[in-house]
Amino acid sequence: MRALVLGATGFVGRALVDALVEAGDDVRAASRRPPGTLPERARWVPCDLLRPETVAPALEGIEVAYYLVHSMGLGRRDFAAIDRACAHELARAAAASSCRRIIYLGGVAPRGRPSPHLASRLEVGEILRDGTVPALELRASMIVGNGSASWQIVRDLTARLPFMVLPRWLESKSCPIALADVVAALLEARRVPLAGSTWFDIPGPEVLSMRQMLETVAALEGRRIPSFRVPVLTPRLSAMWLRLISGADYTLARELVLGLTEDLLPQRSFWEVTGHPARHGFREAAAAALASEPSPSPLARVVEATVRRVGPSITPREPRRS
Ligand SMILES: NC(=O)c1ccc[n+]([C@@H]2O[C@H](COP(=O)([O-])OP(=O)(O)OC[C@H]3O[C@@H](n4cnc5c(N)ncnc54)[C@H](OP(=O)(O)O)[C@@H]3O)[C@@H](O)[C@H]2O)c1
Repeated sequence: MRALVLGATGFVGRALVDALVEAGDDVRAASRRPPGTLPERARWVPCDLLRPETVAPALEGIEVAYYLVHSMGLGRRDFAAIDRACAHELARAAAASSCRRIIYLGGVAPRGRPSPHLASRLEVGEILRDGTVPALELRASMIVGNGSASWQIVRDLTARLPFMVLPRWLESKSCPIALADVVAALLEARRVPLAGSTWFDIPGPEVLSMRQMLETVAALEGRRIPSFRVPVLTPRLSAMWLRLISGADYTLARELVLGLTEDLLPQRSFWEVTGHPARHGFREAAAAALASEPSPSPLARVVEATVRRVGPSITPREPRRS
């Protein structure tokens, strides 16, 4: 297949480009910034969805387009407007191209009111599904892998938390999924029969609270984090706390907290269409993500150990990104 990956420099995009090449597809990797390295059989095309003149050339001759773009990581408050404009542009340009299917990786819909970030992810799905090219939206909660912004917060929290306060949102449930299972779903998504636009959830195999995830990752690192229940911790205070401890961007931390004020559980599973469930449990996925991190320098090890002993006040603020 001739596949276009929009968001090819991103966490999921990089893994998907490799997997599509491995599967024998003809891959065009699109982003605004050039990717560092690409497999030999993939070709990079510059594409900014906010600049329509760059989108049509990227889609030329393409059969399937993967939409793995989002703007929240840029720390911008107007991310929803930007993402809306990007989605409209892809739907418009795809309609005028050879593209026969759009595959979009979005976020899980809560039963209650979605956070601004999740509302924006769901709105992008609606825009793409409303277009004339059939769109398949796959909805994931946290994707576990080195380089995922949400996993990075969990990872940094477990590395640096001297103790855990337990606001209500730490008990909200979701089904985190391993990057390898997301990539497998994205590969299947280009082949499953599609009568028209639709959406599915891609849940990981376990239902877990954020507290359970933190405890699992801490245990993998040989730690136990004592916890204290607190009656109220507003999303704003929680986000400040997350930022202080993990070094995460404030907007990202706030959106993570707001997104977890409701359970994020699957309603319609893609695994029923493909005939097999997600293969990797949280513990296994977390262990793989930890193992793929670059090993810290001896100095970083000393700083990390000191931070654990002294507490969060001297925590380094720079988040690790691969
Ligand atoms: N990470 C998770 O835990 C998670 C969980 C659930 C769902 N998802 C979904 O998975 C998808 C991919 O997420 P990710 O974590 O891989 O994101 P990411 O690492 O932040 O990558 C975002 C990509 O979007 C590209 N991009 C941003 N603005 C663009 C524009 N105007 N035109 C063209 N490209 C643009 C960026 O490329 P350049 O900046 O190089 O142009 C980058 O490659 C998203 O739809 C996200 O909602 C992720």
